[in-house]
Amino acid sequence: MIPFIDLKAQYESIKEEILAAVSATLASTQFVLGKEVAAFEEEFAAYSGGKFGIGVNSGTSALHLALLAAGVKRGDEVITVSCTFVATVAAIDYIGARPVFVDVDPATLNMDAGQVEAAITERTKAILPVHLHGQSADLDPILDVARRHGLRVIEDAAQAHGAEYKGRRVGSIGDLGCFSFYPGKNLGAYGEGGMVVTNNEEFAHTIRMLRDWGQEQKYHHVLKGFNYRLEGVQGAILRVKLRHLEDWTEARRRHAAYYNELLADTAVARPLEMPYARHVYHVYAVQTPKRDRLQEALQAQGIQTGIHYPIPVHLQKAYQDFGYGPGDFPVTERAANELLSLPMFAELQNAQIDTVCTAVRDALNGG
Ligand SMILES: Cc1ncc(COP(=O)(O)O)c(C=O)c1O
Repeated sequence: MIPFIDLKAQYESIKEEILAAVSATLASTQFVLGKEVAAFEEEFAAYSGGKFGIGVNSGTSALHLALLAAGVKRGDEVITVSCTFVATVAAIDYIGARPVFVDVDPATLNMDAGQVEAAITERTKAILPVHLHGQSADLDPILDVARRHGLRVIEDAAQAHGAEYKGRRVGSIGDLGCFSFYPGKNLGAYGEGGMVVTNNEEFAHTIRMLRDWGQEQKYHHVLKGFNYRLEGVQGAILRVKLRHLEDWTEARRRHAAYYNELLADTAVARPLEMPYARHVYHVYAVQTPKRDRLQEALQAQGIQTGIHYPIPVHLQKAYQDFGYGPGDFPVTERAANELLSLPMFAELQNAQIDTVCTAVRDALNGG
């Protein structure tokens, strides 16, 4: 049996550090925000190359508040992709703004920068690229269009902690960067968590208020805010885990290189690391038209896989009101039909990758 992800193995390897950090936080009774969260905000912002970090209770909340800080209002348009987890789009919808989709580049499955300019209207306020699977979108052409049209760029870096674009860490390259610390993420809490990173002091100040009921000081509500605060225990856990993140990321990159080597002469398309990117392989996904058959064959041998994501957002039932339909984004729709995510976590063993790749080869030859 080879799991898709193994959170237990990681916990076992850092248990003593975690328990000490949790115990100290409980003793401090700083259950919501507090010292540990403040320290983690500083450390993670610095890690991501940003001046300010604002801890929130999920990646979705980070996106919601980043959009609000960027000035997105009801009726505005935000250009993004349908080839993403639903949260990217949900956050836009929370405001009553409208997501305007562009297709993705077939080489990377990230926003096709060449399609952005044609999607701009007088209602467009922001561009929201996603660093899918842990590889940065091609940001320079997106930033260039944004600058020329006076638009904000918000990075959805929920899957891309420590990923780089032209030598810079993602999340601090656009105006605002949004991270998720959902447990399965490359840097995962033991519960929910998220953060907005920015170099803009005014945005940071606004988001700090918005996450905590819009208060400038206790019971003085200057903005209509939310209860989106990060918990103290999660801050303490994330601080411990941040110290291991680079080692874990390097392990993921080694696993990806080994997968690439073993799958080189098979019929599956492997993820491409672009020359501008340091891919952090939150997901290692191959592409094949025989995806469903391959997934069944692997499952029969006890190898767990995932599909990220089987239905693009523009074809989800809940979002039919945006007016999109089948055929609107062919690259995105093909990816939804053909992507298969193989087991990927830092503690994965080469022998397990051998087993997975042999099973992939057998399944494809057998079919
Ligand atoms: C691309 C992307 N955006 C946003 C989110 C939302 O993060 P969260 O689950 O922490 O709300 C996720 C992950 O769940 C994600 O993968």
